Amino acid sequence: MKKILIVDDNAQNQYLLEILLKTHGLEVATASNGIEALEKAHQNPPDMIISDILMPGMDGFSLCRAWKTNEALRNIPFVFYTATYTDPNDEKFALSLGAERFIIKPMDPDEFMKIMQEIILNSETKEQVVSIGTIEKEEEYYREYNQTLIRKLENKMVEIQKDNKRLLSFYQLSSNLAKIKNLPDLIHSVLCTLVETSGYEQVSHFSYDEKQRKLFLMDAVGVSEKELTANKDRYVFSIDEEQSLVGVAARTKKIINIPDTTEEPRWIVHDLKMNSALYVPVLYEDNLRGVIVLCSNEKGAFAKEDEHNIATLTNALAIALENEKNQQKIQKQIQRLSALHDIDLAIKGNMDLRATLNILLDYVTKQLQADAADILLYDSKSQTFDFAAARGFNTRAIENQNLWQGNSVAEKIIITQCKLHLNNLIEPLVPSAFAAMCASEKFQNYWGVPLVAKGEVKGVLEVFHRSSFTSEAEWQDYFETLAGQAAIAIDNAQLFEELQRSNVELRLAYDATIEGWSRALYLRDKDTEEHVQRLVDITVELAKKMGFKDADLVHIRRGALLHDIGKMGIPDHILLKPAPLSEDEWVIMRKHPQYAYDMLSSISYLQKALDIPYCHHEKWDGSGYPRGLKGERIPLAARLFAVVDVWDALRSDRPYRKAWQDNQAIEYIREQSGKHFDPKVVEAFLDLLKIKRFD
Ligand code: C2E
Ligand code: SIN
Ligand code: SIN
Ligand code: FE
Repeated sequence: MKKILIVDDNAQNQYLLEILLKTHGLEVATASNGIEALEKAHQNPPDMIISDILMPGMDGFSLCRAWKTNEALRNIPFVFYTATYTDPNDEKFALSLGAERFIIKPMDPDEFMKIMQEIILNSETKEQVVSIGTIEKEEEYYREYNQTLIRKLENKMVEIQKDNKRLLSFYQLSSNLAKIKNLPDLIHSVLCTLVETSGYEQVSHFSYDEKQRKLFLMDAVGVSEKELTANKDRYVFSIDEEQSLVGVAARTKKIINIPDTTEEPRWIVHDLKMNSALYVPVLYEDNLRGVIVLCSNEKGAFAKEDEHNIATLTNALAIALENEKNQQKIQKQIQRLSALHDIDLAIKGNMDLRATLNILLDYVTKQLQADAADILLYDSKSQTFDFAAARGFNTRAIENQNLWQGNSVAEKIIITQCKLHLNNLIEPLVPSAFAAMCASEKFQNYWGVPLVAKGEVKGVLEVFHRSSFTSEAEWQDYFETLAGQAAIAIDNAQLFEELQRSNVELRLAYDATIEGWSRALYLRDKDTEEHVQRLVDITVELAKKMGFKDADLVHIRRGALLHDIGKMGIPDHILLKPAPLSEDEWVIMRKHPQYAYDMLSSISYLQKALDIPYCHHEKWDGSGYPRGLKGERIPLAARLFAVVDVWDALRSDRPYRKAWQDNQAIEYIREQSGKHFDPKVVEAFLDLLKIKRFD
């Protein structure tokens, strides 16, 4: 059996990969950083190594270099498997070190396994070549290495900033929604969010007065908002006006997309010097409530997806107009979930501060010809130091707190915020513990520099020489540049840690949020929580019986909990109708799975939970909705939920009929096997009912 060594500091990534490889008949060993990987490989050489890049201790690039310059290991294939934000130069660098492949996450498991098999096969048949294009020259290696790492840090920073900004507007919107008591403010806040997050230059809202058959400008945000809102009486249009785009969008209740305003005769001056525009009717249950107009400087700025997204948003707005209180809550929950999705993205390529600093120190010692270097972190609130990383020391004395806590050299640097040079490291010129450490390490020369980012001291970088050392101006410059980089790395990582912390908090709030969300629906549906909980429990039982793994059950649970969330979009007079639905009403009712998909599909946490909300009304014989899927094309989770849902629906009172008897319901399920339901699922379900009683 072939053995693969996985190197990843993230336990979850490690685990996922391990499972994938093991299910393909491979043996797996794991390590959480480069050093551990080298140790394990020397004890028991694998047939291939798969490594992440950023890890504490020793990163993937260093590992690859060590691997490919080692006689015993160099012929074992080395594969990088890393997060999505890498750029093509990373791959180039990795291959120049001798790596066989550079794979970017996430990759389709089948494709991933195909590549793995290929590499293993190749390495068996390949002549055992001695060296593969490894960068031999130290200088060149470190130049490339440094550039690659800085690029990674920069990417990370941009990513975090971007996510923070988006996060901010979502949070603003959701917290505003919670506070806002009147509708104009609510709409204003939605318009602001649209302008901030979409990048369009201008958004305005017209509201429709049914009696006068006229549309009135209510609000505008973005370019010219003052002129527009100060002259509202000029912007009144009749719904019957042929020449008004606002009027036409209102009358036809259709979106109008004007990709090029210069070619549109109905375009009028008030609409500003914008080059494209989108007119979106605000509809509630097909009743006109108003029109939203979006404008952009760019020609053809509004793609089909924008139409869809904005229509979804205005739809939400229309519902908010109707049912402000209830909807405020739902909107807020949607926003919170979207925010979670963003944080999730930011966290994907998680980064470890100590790993980064270790890499940096490697570089510091090489480039500054230092014998040893360390970084201490400083917490300005508690005024304490914390050891972060060290290179080149013979003992671990530097990790001892007594060395830098209290009246120390490092403290002096923090207080003066100045670089400090010492070439006489004895008492009483330096504190005794420090002098003792220097003596035992045979240090003769010391340089320390404060690490300052955004005006705040983050720590101290110290370098030691064992010989007498005279520094030149160039060395000094370089020393300061590296200190600046270390400070940025620390600041960046602290930002990142904060994000991770808040993500943990949000994750806790997250499942509670879905439950709250579904509860809002049950309240409206006059259903009870216990009832829904039971439905979920039975579904999970059946899923276990049908062989779903534990890891899938959480998604099944969420899917079952949210199965009818799309009914949020179904008006009361249809949902609660105490009689059979008309054909028109059925058209709307059958949209509820699609509504669920539209609401949930952008939320990464719920990707795997989508099958049930989206496909629970598909039927085995292909006669179901929304897509008319047939047989095994219907996701298994949805096939099994369908049985539980119908069985449960039949045994419950509905506004349109009384509950059926138990045996009647079971008879119906049996009778529909092979028609509505998957026969295998029916069999398993009936078995389950024999063992357990659910009432
Ligand atoms: P629901 O009430 O939760 O019903 C879920 C599914 O159980 C139904 O999906 C159907 O497959 C099955 N089911 C429920 N009651 C009966 C019944 O009396 N006879 C039979 N043979 N099957 C039943 P379906 O039909 O796609 O309906 C989806 C949703 O549409 C229902 O969810 C309910 O909210 C609504 N709906 C269905 N029929 C009516 C109706 O006559 N009046 C009203 N107001 N709503 C209805
Ligand atoms: C989770 O289980 O918390 C999220 C998994 C996913 O995003 O699919
Ligand atoms: C899709 O097909 O886009 C959604 C996946 C599913 O639930 O079948
Ligand atoms: Fe349903």
